[in-house]
Amino acid sequence: MDVTIIGTGNMARGIGTRALAGGHNVTVVGKDSEHAQEAVSAIQEAGRGGSVAAGVAGDAIDGDLVVLAVYYADARAAVEQYADQLSGKTVVDITNPVNETFDALVVPPDSSATQELAWLAPGARLVKAFNTTFAGTLEAGQVGGQPLDVLIAGDDDEAKAAVAALVRDCGLNPIDTGPQHRARELEALGLLHIGLQNTLGTGFGSAVKFLA
Ligand SMILES: NC(=O)c1ccc[n+]([C@@H]2O[C@H](COP(=O)([O-])OP(=O)(O)OC[C@H]3O[C@@H](n4cnc5c(N)ncnc54)[C@H](OP(=O)(O)O)[C@@H]3O)[C@@H](O)[C@H]2O)c1
Repeated sequence: MDVTIIGTGNMARGIGTRALAGGHNVTVVGKDSEHAQEAVSAIQEAGRGGSVAAGVAGDAIDGDLVVLAVYYADARAAVEQYADQLSGKTVVDITNPVNETFDALVVPPDSSATQELAWLAPGARLVKAFNTTFAGTLEAGQVGGQPLDVLIAGDDDEAKAAVAALVRDCGLNPIDTGPQHRARELEALGLLHIGLQNTLGTGFGSAVKFLA
């Protein structure tokens, strides 16, 4: 699969590393080519498998699947910028739309970042995923010897299946949590997981895992 990742930070590198290891072709799109190239080098160093290339904001988006690996406000801007090109594509929203003090969500109580982004690009097939997995754990792909659970929500079954396939190829465990409105609960879980880092003392090294 051709995977385009918008963003060059921690999550772009974590997801990029896993996607590369899963044999996918990754393009990392940065605000500038220097940051994009740095992310490409980091992914190449950490992962093996498919190919990885750099792009800059404004480039045509070739990927079948687009990951928004930026903060919520930047994701809104990117979705607005690329709305036409995102039409028909699977777009993965990984954001936790937290406030500046990381103790509340900034989206309306009856909505979610995914819902708000979907309104900005009505043709895009929005899927929530990866918001409950921390970047460092993605690079390793596991915590405590257990593969990470990647919780997924969305209204488009085909798009969710594409994300689940990517997650599986990444060596991780996809869990379909239901329709797009479940994104609200996933974002609340993401907020809780961030807030628990001090209590747990895990330094963003913990994972949300369902055991059976
Ligand atoms: N970190 C985690 O463990 C984690 C876990 C789950 C979910 N998330 C979510 O993942 C998202 C990214 O978090 P992060 O930790 O990866 O943040 P980060 O390390 O700060 O990276 C954000 C990146 O976005 C880039 N960016 C901003 N606008 C852009 C644009 N228009 N085009 C291309 N790149 C753009 C920034 O580029 P510059 O450096 O050039 O400014 C920066 O590299 C957030 O929404 C967060 O809530 C994070």
